[in-house]
Amino acid sequence: MKEKHFVMIFVTLVSLAFLLVACNGTYVKSSREEPIVAASPVAAKGATYVGSDACADCHEDLVKAFKETPHGRVEDFETKAVGVKNGCEACHGPASKHIEDEDPSEIISFQGRKLTPIQKSEICLRCHTSGQTLDWAGSRHGMSNVACTDCHSIHKGTGKYSLVKKDPNLCYTCHQKQEGEANMPSHHPIREGKMNCTSCHNPHTAANRWMLKTDERINDLCFQCHADKEGPFVFEHAPVVENCTICHNPHGTVANNLLKQNEPFICLQCHHMHFHSGLESNTHYGIGKVNGIQQVMTTKCTQCHSQIHGSNLPSNTRSGMGRRLTR
Ligand code: HEC
Ligand code: HEC
Ligand code: HEC
Ligand code: HEC
Ligand code: HEC
Ligand code: HEC
Ligand code: HEC
Ligand code: HEC
Ligand code: HEC
Ligand code: HEC
Repeated sequence: MKEKHFVMIFVTLVSLAFLLVACNGTYVKSSREEPIVAASPVAAKGATYVGSDACADCHEDLVKAFKETPHGRVEDFETKAVGVKNGCEACHGPASKHIEDEDPSEIISFQGRKLTPIQKSEICLRCHTSGQTLDWAGSRHGMSNVACTDCHSIHKGTGKYSLVKKDPNLCYTCHQKQEGEANMPSHHPIREGKMNCTSCHNPHTAANRWMLKTDERINDLCFQCHADKEGPFVFEHAPVVENCTICHNPHGTVANNLLKQNEPFICLQCHHMHFHSGLESNTHYGIGKVNGIQQVMTTKCTQCHSQIHGSNLPSNTRSGMGRRLTR
């Protein structure tokens, strides 16, 4: 009887382990390592290249408007270098059959679901092999079925980068949580138009998990605009050195100063409430006749520990031996 139980437990454990390995396998296959060059889309069989002039007969307005776009100004030598035909057929593929039959199914189209997101992006990546899109395949967007054409429109794009919509509205179409946060009482000045999502993010990069505009730590991103917080300080505050987002949510918060929680609660996650002995009926800390514990609860910790990000001046208490971040 006991032996049977043992065998059953053993079998369960083995199959569990197997399941874990199998699940992990599919995860890896379906996202992280999916090859970007999977199944390059092909145009109608036997179709040949005819050149952009031929399109004008039936798509006159499009051809005219296209000339004013960055892709309409691309020179032959630029595309030759990467082995791609220039003009309309660089993206839509050889068009002879399409023109012969006037059949929309015989041309590569980005409309609808004819192409997978990866196939769409693959067409763009034939030319965009360097710069910002170099490591697209490993980016969160690249791995999550987002296509170049979800954000860029070749024919109807707006602004300098032919975007479907302007940043941040572009990003809000898929990231409602951050839209909500950007409208909270404390927020980076995105709503005011002084910054946008790409001030901090590069939507193409695989440099880090959150597609941030830094190869380094999150703090290095913040220091680009908040250099005064960088230090090095004589008296450092450990969580500040570690990661600004331990206390701050960069997208927006209800509490002031983008703090994830109000004081003193944000501090009490890590520190005990401290009792200022002798505070009662003495003004040693400049507080007056208030009970110490009450004072700490009802005021902000930073009222005294004002140099919360780090300090170069020793505190004036003997027992503190210089630390305490009070000045
Ligand atoms: C003889 C007429 C004719 C010529 C020339 C022509 N097309 Fe078309 N094209 C059509 C018709 C008809 C449609 C379907 C209706 C529409 O979308 O206007 C179409 C649709 C398309 C579509 C959309 C396909 C879809 O699934 O909705 C693309 C892309 C396209 N053409 C590209 C081209 C390109 C690139 C050229 C030049 C190399 C070209 N066409 C030349 C007649 C033509
Ligand atoms: C750099 C890639 C690229 C080039 C070059 C290009 N297109 Fe497109 N085309 C697209 C994409 C992507 C779409 C889907 C709609 C969009 O993003 O604007 C599209 C859509 C279309 C459509 C569908 C109708 C519509 O208005 O959406 C037609 C027709 C078309 N293109 C014709 C042409 C013609 C004609 C040329 C040359 C004058 C051309 N394209 C050049 C990428 C390209
Ligand atoms: C999630 C939205 C999004 C996706 C997906 C996306 N882009 Fe972009 N792209 C942008 C934004 C926003 C900018 C403007 C960047 C800025 O202001 O710093 C941009 C800029 C660019 C630029 C100009 C860069 C420069 O420095 O001149 C190119 C080229 C480009 N994208 C190509 C692509 C290609 C190719 C793909 C697909 C492999 C792609 N993008 C996918 C949003 C996107
Ligand atoms: C035939 C080669 C080629 C293909 C294919 C191609 N591009 Fe480009 N693209 C270029 C070149 C070259 C430039 C640089 C133009 C310049 O800097 O003036 C460019 C510029 C851009 C820019 C920045 C300028 C702007 O405002 O549009 C974006 C964004 C972009 N491409 C997106 C795309 C997307 C999305 C696709 C796929 C639908 C695509 N490209 C396909 C060659 C290509
Ligand atoms: C077409 C929809 C779409 C658009 C538009 C879009 N995103 Fe995304 N984004 C996604 C998807 C899907 C993911 C991956 C799933 C997830 O983590 O939410 C993602 C992931 C991200 C992540 C990483 C999230 C994580 O958990 O690591 C960041 C950062 C991001 N997007 C920023 C942006 C920015 C900035 C823009 C605008 C320039 C933008 N996105 C536009 C769909 C989109
Ligand atoms: C001031 C810099 C900054 C700005 C501006 C910014 N972000 Fe972020 N974003 C970050 C940092 C840092 C992270 C990663 C750490 C975190 O989530 O706190 C992040 C993470 C994300 C994530 C992943 C969130 C998650 O829960 O995993 C998404 C999605 C995202 N940002 C989208 C956006 C969008 C959309 C905008 C524009 C409204 C935007 N961000 C503006 C700095 C910024
Ligand atoms: C591209 C520049 C830029 C980057 C990068 C940046 N910030 Fe900011 N930050 C600003 C601006 C601009 C303000 C508004 C300043 C003002 O109104 O005086 C601000 C304000 C703040 C505030 C005060 C908000 C308030 O309610 O008063 C905090 C906290 C903050 N940033 C934290 C961060 C953190 C943490 C990071 C890194 C994740 C970061 N910032 C990255 C530009 C930036
Ligand atoms: C231990 C929690 C904590 C960490 C970690 C932290 N901060 Fe703060 N930060 C605060 C508090 C509390 C305030 C409000 C300070 C006040 O009211 O005097 C604040 C305020 C700010 C402000 C707005 C007021 C000002 O002084 O300009 C900025 C900007 C800021 N922090 C940036 C950063 C950056 C950048 C980092 C990472 C290097 C960081 N913070 C890490 C707690 C923290
Ligand atoms: C994520 C945890 C964490 C949070 C949140 C945090 N701290 Fe700290 N704090 C630490 C650590 C760790 C130290 C270093 C302790 C040491 O060296 O003994 C420290 C040190 C200090 C010191 C110096 C102590 C000394 O011995 O001199 C003060 C003062 C302080 N924190 C105040 C605050 C205040 C005020 C807040 C809220 C705005 C806060 N801390 C939020 C972890 C945190
Ligand atoms: C009325 C001013 C004042 C307020 C308010 C205050 N502190 Fe202090 N705190 C001090 C002083 C002064 C010292 C140094 C005492 C010493 O050296 O004997 C100190 C010491 C500390 C220390 C290091 C000593 C220890 O107990 O480990 C930490 C951590 C600390 N405070 C955290 C906080 C937190 C968290 C809050 C908010 C809940 C807070 N303080 C509120 C004045 C204050």
